[in-house]
Amino acid sequence: MILIVGGAGYIGSHINKELNKEGFETVVFDNLYSGKKELVKWGEFFEGDLGKIESIREVFKKYKIEAVLHFAAYKAVGESVTDPQKYYKNNVANTLNLFEVMKENGVNKFIFSSSAATFGEPKYIPIDEKHPQNPINPYGETKLIVEHIIRDYDKAYGMKYVALRYFNACGADLEADVGEWPGSSSNLIPLVLDAAIGRREDIKVFGTDYETPDGTCVRDYIHVTDLATAHVLALKYLLDGKESQCFNLGNGKGFSVKEVIDMAKKITGIDFKVTEVERRAGDPPELVADSKLAREILKWEPRYADLETIVSSAWKWHQKVCQIIK
Ligand code: WQD
Repeated sequence: MILIVGGAGYIGSHINKELNKEGFETVVFDNLYSGKKELVKWGEFFEGDLGKIESIREVFKKYKIEAVLHFAAYKAVGESVTDPQKYYKNNVANTLNLFEVMKENGVNKFIFSSSAATFGEPKYIPIDEKHPQNPINPYGETKLIVEHIIRDYDKAYGMKYVALRYFNACGADLEADVGEWPGSSSNLIPLVLDAAIGRREDIKVFGTDYETPDGTCVRDYIHVTDLATAHVLALKYLLDGKESQCFNLGNGKGFSVKEVIDMAKKITGIDFKVTEVERRAGDPPELVADSKLAREILKWEPRYADLETIVSSAWKWHQKVCQIIK
């Protein structure tokens, strides 16, 4: 049985689908703080909270867990700056509870949802695994601290891990079975689609004077189903007894904020309002991943790298879920 902590969330629910497709048995452990029961469509569900160690012990008692994938973290960068305690408590301290129970049960295979935010300001582009890690916000710090914890747990207790550092996770399951819940994210694509569907008045473009081809920031948007495939490969890698490793996950290709907005207008056919505003603090002009290592070692190949597939899959899901929640 594979334990998916935070499997009722955006990324975890896609991984749950992919693992079940590949024949793995899964149990989702989630406190439904931001996760949704509606997104748990495969495997078993156990409502529990990483802050309550007894609930973790219970899930390990109920199921024979072979490996753990961990997605249960807060991810709003801005909020991590104004309320760091919330982030250090959940993303770090509660994760230690999980490790404690894994250790008690002799479970030593772990896949960690890490982030490009561990790198901070890019020193060079594309960003490979050797790039210095100097996070510029508490969110990125929490992800880097957990990377350090698992490195030390491997040395001391033999806990084998794969840390996957996502760039800009986006899009939705192509069959629209799962996706990102509207209103739960401050990321560009869900906000753009909210503007298109009329749940927001406009989309604000944070800065148009960057040194990029069209003046807006460039990001490496990686489809969530491609991320899911990477997790399945990482799990197989660990189950094969391979060494711990960190991988950067992106397409190696950047799109600007304007390109994303133009694509959303084309796909939705809606001419929503776009307002140009000041730069947002802490936004680097360009973030692009070098994912050669994942391609070489995991044999990972992103399949949905084109912006059209990314935005149209997100739009298909967004329309469906907005029908349910309205
Ligand atoms: C993308 C671009 C904004 C909203 C964040 C985290 C990162 C990782 C991915 C988890 C930027 C611009 C956005 C809006 C805009 N998370 N934008 N108007 O900041 O690149 O990355 O999510 O690990 O750690 O920092 O993502 O989607 O917020 O922004 O113009 O209303 O869109 O300035 O250039 P970001 P994002």
